[in-house]
Amino acid sequence: MRKPMMAANWKMNKTSEEALQFARDFLRMSPPVSEVDVVIFPPFTAIYPLSRALDKTGVHLGAQNMYYETCGAFTGEISGGMLAAEGVTYVIIGHSERRHILGESDAVIAKKIQAALESGLTPVLCVGETLQEREAGDAAAVVVRQLKAALWGLGGDLPLVVAYEPVWAIGTGKTASDADAQEMAALIRNELASITTAAERTRILYGGSVKPDNVAMFLQARDIDGALVGGASLDPHAFYRLSMAAKSQASI
Ligand code: PGA
Repeated sequence: MRKPMMAANWKMNKTSEEALQFARDFLRMSPPVSEVDVVIFPPFTAIYPLSRALDKTGVHLGAQNMYYETCGAFTGEISGGMLAAEGVTYVIIGHSERRHILGESDAVIAKKIQAALESGLTPVLCVGETLQEREAGDAAAVVVRQLKAALWGLGGDLPLVVAYEPVWAIGTGKTASDADAQEMAALIRNELASITTAAERTRILYGGSVKPDNVAMFLQARDIDGALVGGASLDPHAFYRLSMAAKSQASI
C-alpha cells in the first residue's frame, strides 16, 4: 500500500507573511495528515517561518529546488544540507519550468538527485513531455530518457517520488486524460523496476492543472498515488479539498 501524497508547489508566489497566513487557515481545517503525506513547497524565503509554523503538525515541508554542491562560492544557490537543517524533507528536482525556462539539463538534474539523496532529502523528480513531443508520438521515449538520465548510476532502495507532469498541461487548464496519465505512470513504474528495488513502493504523482474538481479521476488510476499541484494549491481551501480527495482515495 502506497501512502498518497498531496503536494503544493507554490512556485514564485507568497511572501513569508502570506505563507504563514496560509498555514494558519489550512491547519484550522485539520488536514488529513495521518492518511496522506501533505507537503508544501514554498519559495525559499518562506521556508524558515513555515518550518516553525508546521512543526509537529504532520504537514511536511519541501523545497522547489537546490544546488548539487554542499557549500562554497556558488552565489545565489542553496544546498540540500541547508534545507535539511530547516526541517525540509522533500525537494522538487527537474521541474519543467527549471528545465525549460532556466535551462536545466538532464546532467544537472542527475547531480541534484544524487546530492539530495546524500543530504537525506527525498527528491520529487519531475518528468514530462512537451506538446510537440506528444504530437510526434515521442512522449513515452522522452519520459523514459528523462527518468534514466536523472537516476543514472543510482540503484538499490531509493527514497524517491516521481511526478509525471506533461509540460502542455502545466498552468494551462488542460489536463492529460486519466487513461494517458495512468499509461505514463505505469511506464514510469515499469522503468523504475529496472533501476530501484523500491519501484512498487515509489509514489508517482500526476501534475498539470490539477484542481479539486478533477483530482479524483487521477487518484483513481492504479499507478497514480497523488498530485503535484501549482495554481490550485495557493488557496488553503482548495488545497484542503485536494488533500481530502487523497484521503478518500487512501481508504478505498
Ligand atoms: P499547475 O502546476 O497545477 O498550476 O498546472 C503544476 C506544477 O507545475 O507542478
